[in-house]
Formats: sequence, structure tokens, C-alpha cells
Amino acid sequence: MATKFLLTFAICRLIVTVGLTLDPTELLRLELEGQLSLDPADVGSASRDFGGMRTAHPMAVLHPASPQDVARLVKSAYESAHGFGISARGHGHSINGQAMTGNGLVIQMSGSRGNPAPPRVSEKSMYVDVWGGELWIDVLRSTLEYGLAPKSWTDYLYLSVGGTLSNAGISGQAFNHGPQISNVYELDVVTGKGELLTCSKEQNSELYDAVLGGLGQFGIITRARIALERAPRRVRWIRVLYSNFTAFTQDQEYLISLHGQPQKFDYVEGFVIVDEGLINNWRSSFFSPRNPVKISSLNADGGILYCLEITKNYQESNADTIDQEVEALLKKLNFIPASVFTTDLPYVDFLDRVHKAELKLRAKNLWDVPHPWLNLFVPKSRIADFDRGVFKGILGNNTSGPILIYP
Ligand SMILES: Cc1cc2nc3c(=O)[nH]c(=O)nc-3n(C[C@H](O)[C@H](O)[C@H](O)COP(=O)(O)OP(=O)(O)OC[C@H]3O[C@@H](n4cnc5c(N)ncnc54)[C@H](O)[C@@H]3O)c2cc1C
Ligand SMILES: *[C@@H]1O[C@H](CO)[C@@H](O)[C@H](O)[C@H]1NC(C)=O
Ligand SMILES: *[C@@H]1O[C@H](CO)[C@@H](O)[C@H](O)[C@H]1NC(C)=O
Ligand SMILES: *[C@@H]1O[C@H](CO)[C@@H](O)[C@H](O)[C@H]1NC(C)=O
Repeated sequence: MATKFLLTFAICRLIVTVGLTLDPTELLRLELEGQLSLDPADVGSASRDFGGMRTAHPMAVLHPASPQDVARLVKSAYESAHGFGISARGHGHSINGQAMTGNGLVIQMSGSRGNPAPPRVSEKSMYVDVWGGELWIDVLRSTLEYGLAPKSWTDYLYLSVGGTLSNAGISGQAFNHGPQISNVYELDVVTGKGELLTCSKEQNSELYDAVLGGLGQFGIITRARIALERAPRRVRWIRVLYSNFTAFTQDQEYLISLHGQPQKFDYVEGFVIVDEGLINNWRSSFFSPRNPVKISSLNADGGILYCLEITKNYQESNADTIDQEVEALLKKLNFIPASVFTTDLPYVDFLDRVHKAELKLRAKNLWDVPHPWLNLFVPKSRIADFDRGVFKGILGNNTSGPILIYP
């Protein structure tokens, strides 16, 4: 119980505020090294997010120049007679205004004006220390200089370390390494009182456990120490199709049961193809040159198709056995035999794959649109009902937009 009370307290301090007006002179006394901006462009961008469905205008935006800046501002909110809200904002890719505040300040953690420390790699101990606002794409680029890379990812890399560690950070690698929050050795966190503390499993462990997956409510991450592995050189990326949902989920479950074993895929995801438009468009350009069959011929009855997406990483040293390794794993699966789509690409191109789609959508003005996205965890016991009721029922063949489904 002691833990719960402590954490609740932290919540109260970060969400303070009862709609009282902020006195700017309080802030000027803080002697911040970074830039406290009232510029309408800064305030405007901090009042929107990727979801495009909510707005909340902060009174000002801080571009911090150091962790101490973050600590000073939070401390002043804590000690202020009126209190005011503070929200950390990474890259603003939330859907429902999670990084906004309408009656206080936004601390803009990502971006060139708010990045006090470049990533520092320890080759010996296989970790990288990064600023909380660092984007994962930049974490990747800096660790690849040492031939190293983080182990667990999100599908899209233009998200901040603090932003995904406040959620979970889940992608096709999670079955093997756990989500991103399970691959963090240590954090520096500014607590609700404005203290800058280091925490880990051993030190201030309550704070560490609360902040990871804490939705930004238990403190602001200014530094994260992220576990690294030797980076694979290339990726064999495979998509296979199913019309039988039971066969699809059974294969996905089988593949994640191989976690920790040497002979397994390195990434397991999947998606649903409900829409005729998507059927024609479902492949990213990565797969176009090797399309062996017409999708429509696999989908003769017009029903829903399920696509299992898997990868196998490899180094130059085992490049000559990769074909056999993939073949042996595919043999255990029950997909539609004619439906194997394969491509092969450098590791970084695979990890950064969604950015390619982003550029295409941006070119068509389809990126900055509302994104009423939803993530659900559905128990195994109800997933077949979910397929019947939602994919085959409510959605029919009449929807657009991606639907990912993976165990
Ligand atoms: C195209 C796209 C693909 C995605 N793919 C995946 C995926 O594959 N897997 C997955 O898990 N998620 C995915 N997401 C969701 C994404 O991980 C979250 O929306 C994440 O919060 C976005 O990071 P951000 O830096 O933009 O966060 P923001 O929207 O800026 O912030 C998110 C939350 O974190 C808090 N926060 C931000 N920085 C800090 C900090 N330094 N310390 C403490 N709290 C902080 C904010 O206050 C807010 O509550 C995707 C999102 C998009 C737009
Ligand atoms: C679907 O796959 C499951 C599991 O492989 C199998 O038991 C079932 O008979 C299949 N259903 C049809 C209609 O083929
Ligand atoms: C999609 O649904 C519409 C309306 O229910 C139907 O007319 C059409 O034939 C369906 N198309 C396919 C490919 O199933
Ligand atoms: C598909 O959905 C849209 C939006 O709800 C609707 O306008 C349209 O009539 C639907 N089409 C079919 C074939 O059901």
C-alpha cells in the first residue's frame, strides 16, 4: 500500500491545476537555460497531436536545455501558490491529447531545440544512454555506428524514447525480448516534486516501475539507458496469407511459443485484409517486384484474408544458411501454399519501413488527417468471436485503413 500512496502523490503533483492563471513572472525567476516560448507556432504545435481529434492550448512551451531545466519548471509548479499543469511532449504522436495541457506548460522534449545530450554508447556494457526526447530513428543511427542496436521496437521510429517508454513500445519483436519497457536498465526522472532522480530495478525501484508504462503521470524521463545487441545486417521479410482465421491464429501462437529458441522468427505480426481496395494495395513497395500470384485468385469467395508477417534476421556469416532456416520454419505453418511473398533488405530499412509509407501518404496529403486509432488486447479465448463479430461482421468488406493483429 505504501507504494500506491507514494505514486498517487506523484500523480497529483503533475496534474495539479484548478484553472488558475499562470503568473509569467514566476517563470522568469527560474533562470532556465532553455527557451521558454510564447511563439504562436510553438504553442500551436504543442496543442495538436497525430490523432488530430483534440486541441488544448498551453500557455507556453519550454524547449529544455538540460534535465535541470525540466526539474526547475516542475519544482516551480509544485511550489507555486496557484499550481499549473505540466505535460511532457515527445514527438506528439499520441491519438487523444495525452501530451497536451490546456492550463499550463508543455515541455517539448523532442526536436532540435530541446536535445541537450547526444546518445552515448557503451560497447563494453552494451547499452546506450539517450535523452528522453530522442527519437528512436536517431537512437538506431547512433548505435549502428558501433554495429549495435536496441532489441525491441515499435513499427514506426519517429517516436520519442520518453513517449514510447511511457506506454510500452510493442512490435513484432516483443514476444522474444518483451516490449521496449522491458529493455531499459536505468532512467533519470524528474518527479512530481521536481527532484531529478536516477532509478532502476535496484535504485528507486518504485519510481522505475511506475514511470515505465506510466503514461507520463509519474515523472518526466530525461535519460534512458537502453539495452543493445549486435545489429543484424539483413532481414528476410516474409508475408503469407490465410483465409482460415483459426489456422492463422494457431500459427501466430505457435511462432511466439518459440521465443528464446535459436530456430525461430525474429518478428511476428500480422494484419487483416477486409477491403477490396486494400487487397489491391496491401503490399508496400518493398514486395512489388516479387509478387508471385494475384491476390484476387487467392480470395475467390471475396472473404477476408489474414496476412502473417514474419522476419528472420541474419549476418553475413550465416547468409548461406538463411534460405534453409526460413524454409524449415515455414514448413511448420498452414498458410495458403501459393501465397508466400518474400523480400530481403538491410536491417535499418526494415526497421524504418513505416517511414516509407509516411512519405507516400504525405505526398498525397493523407498524413495530417484525423487518426481515430484504437489498440485492444483481446484474450485468446475471445479472439475467434472477435473475428466473427468485428472483422467478418461489423466491418464486412467495407473499411479502409490498416488493421494489425498479432499475439
Ligand atoms: C505511425 C505510428 C505508429 C505507431 N506504432 C507503434 C507501435 O508499433 N508500437 C507501439 O507501442 N506504439 C506505436 N505507436 C504509438 C506510439 O508509441 C505512442 O503514441 C507514443 O506515445 C508516441 O510517442 P511520442 O514521442 O510521439 O509521444 P507523445 O505523444 O509526445 O507523448 C506520449 C505520452 O508520453 C508522455 N511523454 C512524452 N515524453 C515523455 C517523457 N520524456 N517522460 C515522460 N513522459 C513522456 C506524454 O506526456 C504523453 O502522455 C505508433 C504511433 C504512430 C503515430
Ligand atoms: C481451419 O483451420 C483449423 C486449424 O488448422 C482446422 O481445424 C479447420 O478444419 C480449418 N477450417 C476449414 C474450414 O478449413
Ligand atoms: C463487398 O460488399 C458489398 C456489399 O455488401 C458487396 O456488394 C460486394 O460484392 C462485396 N465485395 C467483395 C469482394 O466481397
Ligand atoms: C461503406 O461504408 C460507407 C460509410 O459508412 C457507406 O457510405 C457505404 O454505403 C458503404 N458501402 C457498402 C457497399 O456497404
